Amino acid sequence: MLVLGIDTSCDDTSVALLNAQDNSILSEKVSSRMELHARYGGVVPEIAARQHLELILPMIESVHEEAGVAPDPGTIQLIAATRGPGLIGALLVGLGCAKALSLGWEVPFVGVNHLEGHLVSIALAGKNVPYPHISMIVSGGHSEIYRTISPVEHQLLGETRDDAAGELLDKVGRLLDVPFPAGETIDRWTLEADPSSPHPKFPRPLLNRDTIEFSFSGLKTACLYFLQSDDSKNYSREAIGAEVFRAAVDCLLGKAFLACERENIPTLVISGGVASSRYLRLEAASRAESRGINVMFPEPRHCTDNASMIALAGWNRFSAHGPDPYDIDCDASLTLTPH
Ligand code: KG4
Ligand code: ZN
Repeated sequence: MLVLGIDTSCDDTSVALLNAQDNSILSEKVSSRMELHARYGGVVPEIAARQHLELILPMIESVHEEAGVAPDPGTIQLIAATRGPGLIGALLVGLGCAKALSLGWEVPFVGVNHLEGHLVSIALAGKNVPYPHISMIVSGGHSEIYRTISPVEHQLLGETRDDAAGELLDKVGRLLDVPFPAGETIDRWTLEADPSSPHPKFPRPLLNRDTIEFSFSGLKTACLYFLQSDDSKNYSREAIGAEVFRAAVDCLLGKAFLACERENIPTLVISGGVASSRYLRLEAASRAESRGINVMFPEPRHCTDNASMIALAGWNRFSAHGPDPYDIDCDASLTLTPH
């Protein structure tokens, strides 16, 4: 049961071949031209779309070559591509290509919600995840907590009122002169920081309120005002960045544990680009233990955007609901559950 997965939701072009029988990845490629975007301090949608157009077909050929299978209808049972959320021009390239191959090869096709890809990425690690469980997605565009009932059913419990956690790190990175995307660098600073040495203190927005919600834009503003104050001269940018991330992680874990408690579900799965953070992983593991919560993470390479998770989510959808019609469209602000 071979599934060809395609993800072109943002700046990364990703293609993968997944064996859906045992979730083994035959070949997986992610190509990013971040240097083209970094000089603008963020992803430029037009550049991303052009890059996908250039890379997609050679990458599809290359995953087949690496897996040692012929790119034809005899080998592929399903083509799955992200249809949202994401940058519309970028999404159109991947979804259009998937539909064209599906028509040409006479192989069924499904459009995948990118968030569902992140939610099921834990299964790529070969781990057995109990259902229902609490899922938290922390990425550049999303910070959401779900009650995941099955691989294709997710009930939204809470989300951010404004910025996403990765967006906070990338924006604070800009204030601190860290190249985009800043998450990995700030993660390293936080791991290396000595929390007992003097450091600025930033707020933990909404942490003490009995609500499953985040608000990260105030934290970014607190950091901005602090940098404009005389007091900021007493601290290194590493110490300031680390305190922002500690505050964000306190909020993320506080709300994820609140969701586990309220729903009476002892399993927490954390996915999305920020979940590749070593600091978040260590803190989650140590704080979960005393609460009797089993916290699970996908492999770091499957936390950031990848097409294996799209192939897997596509296979789950196809098994539950069959193929999608060709008139299914891209949706830049696709959600998992109606608001
Ligand atoms: O899931 P992802 O690859 O793309 C989206 O769907 O948004 O997430 C990208 C985000 C960026 O904001 C980036 O700064 C952050 O993930 N990120 C990290 C780490 N690696 C990437 N944040 C914290 N620690 C990391 N090691
Ligand atoms: Zn993503």
